[in-house]
Amino acid sequence: MNLFEKCYNFKEADQAKAENLYPYFQPIETEQDTEVKIKGKKLLMLGSNSYLGLTTDKRVKKASIDAIEKYGTGNAGSRFLNGTLDLHIILEKRLAGFVRKDAALLFSTGFQANLSIAALIDKDDIVIIDKSDHASIVDGTRLGFGTIKRFKHNDMLSLESVLKRLDPQKGKLVVVDGVFSMEGDIVNLPKLVELKRKYGFKIMIDDAHAIGVIGENGRGTADHFGLTDQVDIIMGTFSKSLASLGGFIASDKPIIDYLKHHARSLIFSASITPASTAAVMTALDIMESEPERIEKLWDNTGFVRNGLRDLGFDTGSSETPIIPVLAGDMETTLMMWKILFTNGLFVNPVLPPAVPPNSGLIRVSLMATHTKNQLQQALDKFEAAGKQLGIIK
Ligand SMILES: Cc1ncc(COP(=O)(O)O)c(C=O)c1O
Repeated sequence: MNLFEKCYNFKEADQAKAENLYPYFQPIETEQDTEVKIKGKKLLMLGSNSYLGLTTDKRVKKASIDAIEKYGTGNAGSRFLNGTLDLHIILEKRLAGFVRKDAALLFSTGFQANLSIAALIDKDDIVIIDKSDHASIVDGTRLGFGTIKRFKHNDMLSLESVLKRLDPQKGKLVVVDGVFSMEGDIVNLPKLVELKRKYGFKIMIDDAHAIGVIGENGRGTADHFGLTDQVDIIMGTFSKSLASLGGFIASDKPIIDYLKHHARSLIFSASITPASTAAVMTALDIMESEPERIEKLWDNTGFVRNGLRDLGFDTGSSETPIIPVLAGDMETTLMMWKILFTNGLFVNPVLPPAVPPNSGLIRVSLMATHTKNQLQQALDKFEAAGKQLGIIK
């Protein structure tokens, strides 16, 4: 049996390329801004997670350049050994204060931050996840030695029915996205906290899409609901609002200390680069000192969500700058993406199995720096594509 047979037999991507319908790995030749260039052609960017538009900010760039000048381009080792910088410790304190937790720990990617969940889940523990949780949460729980349970997306009745059947003596962790990355809805944290009081479990929230978007000055989901004390672990990434790359976990000091000495995705991987670390620090400063960015992001969100709904598109349960536009089966979704792309609009198609069969989506994400003129152009392109494919009348 040839182990690589599956690779040689994998033809789907080539088929899509042959039909000119392959949407992935598009090589962008410019900054991650509201407008990008691909193969020399300008496109409006409505598919970026740079919610506050800070990846192109001069101050953020300068902070990264200065950090390279001072610390070099890499740390050549793990935090555990030779790879800890004073800059890392300063940022950890800053992040802990920002999300109002005792302590924080940096990881080189958000994905690795979630893989550290594994360290918390012993053989007799149970981890319970929302069916729409991010892949990195799923993988983090799989790497743990405990039992994994799932509940229906943001459905607290479904969670309760899972909880009722579990051994009350066992340690339990419920992990949810704060803002769900495909649906764009916000976790029902008040109800989750009610269940926590009734059944006794710990809560971890992945705030990848919530930091810089909800809560005071973008502090995230727990702050948004005024329930920071009830949330045991807050996880965040730097690859979205914070204009960089990396991630963090914030919690009580003993939890952070335990992770520092047990999380394999921290200990056995090189630490976050000086440039990435410094960029986050400056992005955080800007986020706090320029709250008008978050206001603008929400203004843009309302404009596009209402615009799409007025045109007759189904945008599901979205409440945030992530707006899924239901397209339908795989072919229609790819056709929709293709028409939009050809007409100069960059958006992300989401296909089964990431979504249920016949529920393909075009995922729109907004930035604070989009102008109304750009957004109106995007809506016009959606209208034309939706009519051409019969998705709207
Ligand atoms: C909800 C969520 N969690 C975690 C991650 C992983 O973060 P990163 O891309 O910074 O590794 C992502 C990014 O796609 C995400 O959307």
